Amino acid sequence: MSNLITRTTELAMSVTLTYIKPGDTVVDATCGTGQDTVALARAVGDGGSVYAFDIQKNAHLLTEARLKAHGFNNVHLVMQSFVSMSDHIPERSAAAVVFNLGYLPGGDHSITTTADETLAGLDAALRTVRPGGIVTVVTYDGHKEGAEEKKAILEWAEALDQSRYHVAYVRMLNQKKYPPEILWITRR
Ligand SMILES: C[S@@+](CC[C@H](N)C(=O)[O-])C[C@H]1O[C@@H](n2cnc3c(N)ncnc32)[C@H](O)[C@@H]1O
Repeated sequence: MSNLITRTTELAMSVTLTYIKPGDTVVDATCGTGQDTVALARAVGDGGSVYAFDIQKNAHLLTEARLKAHGFNNVHLVMQSFVSMSDHIPERSAAAVVFNLGYLPGGDHSITTTADETLAGLDAALRTVRPGGIVTVVTYDGHKEGAEEKKAILEWAEALDQSRYHVAYVRMLNQKKYPPEILWITRR
């Protein structure tokens, strides 16, 4: 087993997977290269569904190729912003909604998630996740948009009603080079 606290995105996904069972519906809000999409497709199995969003054609091509290589047919690729999530998935139906924010690794860094849009996407995620489900957010604050976005997300998350949501936040305290951080929100 890998050393999870040194691998933030794997840590984020490993906790997320404990909320998912075969047959579930889940959302990858930012499919990017498709790595998270594949992990989610494996977790829900043939009887489940993954809705994978991204605004970049290139991300969809990468994700499609990765899914094909693994033989998964249980993913709906949606080339729209995660803000439109509620147009595609019924409310209170998803076991998990995963946001891996920022820009496409190896892609155009100017195409990145932004504070305003991400907050709207997170509101949509809270409508989409089912009671007992999880919203997972991996943030990157090593770039200007990312730093503003993280600040806005933390303010938003701190204000969530504690009678309806439970929020956990993980930060790698002694790592100097802006390591990713994790926010998990579970809906009661
Ligand atoms: C860090 S990458 C995601 C990595 C991905 N989860 C993986 O496993 O490779 C962030 C992605 O968010 C996408 N993105 C930016 N704004 C978006 C939005 N409003 N809705 C959906 N995707 C968005 C970018 O195009 C980029 O591909």
